[in-house]
Order: sequence, then structure tokens, then C-alpha cells
Amino acid sequence: MSTPATQVQLTEAELKLLQTLVYQECGMFFDERRVHFLQDRLQRRLKACGLDTFYSYYRLLTSREGKTELAALVENLTVNETSFFRNKPQLDLFHKTILEEILHRKQQRRDFSVRMWSAGCSTGPEPYTMAMLICDALAYYYLRNPLPFGDMPSPKPLIPPPWRVEILASDISYSVLRAAQEGIYPENHLEPVEYTYRLRYFDKVGDRYAIKKGVKDLVHFDFHNLKTEFLPQRNDVIFCRNVMIYFDEAEQKRLIDKFYRCLNPEGFLLIGHAESLFGLTDKFKMIHQNNGTVYQRIEVPA
Ligand SMILES: C[S@@+](CC[C@H](N)C(=O)[O-])C[C@H]1O[C@@H](n2cnc3c(N)ncnc32)[C@H](O)[C@@H]1O
Repeated sequence: MSTPATQVQLTEAELKLLQTLVYQECGMFFDERRVHFLQDRLQRRLKACGLDTFYSYYRLLTSREGKTELAALVENLTVNETSFFRNKPQLDLFHKTILEEILHRKQQRRDFSVRMWSAGCSTGPEPYTMAMLICDALAYYYLRNPLPFGDMPSPKPLIPPPWRVEILASDISYSVLRAAQEGIYPENHLEPVEYTYRLRYFDKVGDRYAIKKGVKDLVHFDFHNLKTEFLPQRNDVIFCRNVMIYFDEAEQKRLIDKFYRCLNPEGFLLIGHAESLFGLTDKFKMIHQNNGTVYQRIEVPA
């Protein structure tokens, strides 16, 4: 393995050790196509720690004192690319068909709570897009299916009572969670956001756009590592888009099984455009309409 003069030699054995450690920690798998990225980030972290061999870095990571550095390494390995209204055909299907079905089913059962989870939320555009879409879908649903709940509070709330909406947004990176929580974006990030949504759900702050408080209040941000077993339960919908592409097949299968358990009966799973459940599970059925795809939990008769 050739290394520039300023770089510390990383042996095959050290690379294997570190690759395995990262995989065990967060599920990210670096195959031949992505191993250069891993090597580059390892060199940076080694330098930041002032160490001179990768074996000593590995020893640090596996020591009790190394927990913070392990988190920093994982953080440096994440790819946080995201955008508002990403994968429009899928979101149209979600907005017009899936949400309508969920609201109808819930109202019939007189359960007025909707719980959604953005797993791997990055800097927030995904959960905030989910929030804007449910506000819209619920307002339209309510118009056609008003409930005898007494007087509507004034000003009219984004979520008409007695409906309750809870969106959990999680990530393994604390820095993206901080940015997401702030919810302020430069103008160029707003390009995919239609003007009607900009007007309703954003405030202009200087030359940036801030998510309105009412939308922000629907989203709760938290740290969750998808590699662990203890994940948020009782979701009606899970978005986990463009996260599984960084996992190998075994880890993808484990994650899909966990998502199955984290969903309510007949709940929905939305994955990325370049991802598929094909060959990974038979516990979900695919719903495909106008180029949009979502998956629904299949219920096994008791
Ligand atoms: C490419 S971004 C996708 C963001 C968003 N879901 C979207 O599609 O626009 C992938 C996100 O997954 C997060 N991630 C990667 N591995 C994770 C893990 N084991 N647990 C939780 N989040 C993880 C990364 O930190 C990153 O923010």
C-alpha cells in the first residue's frame, strides 16, 4: 500500500481491524469502492489524536477512554447528504395515498395520534419535509372529515385537535443533530421547496430560512444508532432513506427486521431511491405508483 510521505503507514492487518471495529459499532461497511474514504478519515483522526501508528489508534478506540474518539471517528465517516422534498414521486405517494390511508384507518379506530420516525435524519430536511406533508395532508383530511371537538382554537393550529402528530428524527452524528435542531437553512437549500410551502412553513431570517416554530415543535431530535437493538417503537411510518446503502447485506437484513418490529401493524417503511427490499425480506409488500415506492408491513394471521 503506497502512502504519501506525510501519512502514516496503514497495514492491511490494521485496516481490517479498524474496518471491523467500525462495522461492529455502527454497521457501516467499507468495500473496495469506499475504502479510500475510510483510509483518508483514519489518517485525519490519527493526526488529530497525535498518534504515530494505527495499531495504537486501534488500542485507543477499544479502550475505556477511547469512547469519545470512537464517536468522533464514526461521525467523520458519515455521509450527510440530504435535501428537502428528496425523491418527489415517493413523497407524492406518501402525501396523497399513504397518509390518507393512515388518517382514515386511525379515525375509524378513534385513535387520533400519528407517530413517524426519520431514521438517519442528517441535518433535518427529511423530518421537516415529513412535518410539512402531514400538516398539509391533515388539514385537507380534516376539511373533509371534521370532528365534533368543540370550537377550533384561534389561530388555527397546524394540527387540528384532537389529532396529535409526533415525528422522531434520529441520527448517529451529534453535529448533524445540532444543525437539524437549529432548523435554519441557506436559500439554496430551499430550491426544492415550492413557494406555497416556503410561505407557510418558513420564516425569513436575514438571508436564511428558519423552520417555523409550529413545524419545529412537531419534530423531536434524538441520538439513535441503528446498529443497536433498542430503537423507537410503535411507529406508523418509518423513513430510512439513503442510510442502508452504507451497510452490507447482513446488516441491512437485521435492520429491516428491526424496522418491522418498530412499526405498528400495517405500518409503512420508506427507503431511498437507490435502495430496495428485494431479496432481503418477505415481511413487507411493495406499493409502487407513478414512480414512487413505499413498503408496507405484512401482517401474519395469528
Ligand atoms: C446520506 S444521509 C441521508 C439523510 C436523509 N435520510 C436523506 O435521505 O436525505 C445518511 C445519514 O445516516 C446517518 N447514519 C449512518 N449510519 C447510521 C447509524 N448506524 N445509525 C444512525 N444513523 C446513521 C448518517 O449520519 C447520515 O446523517
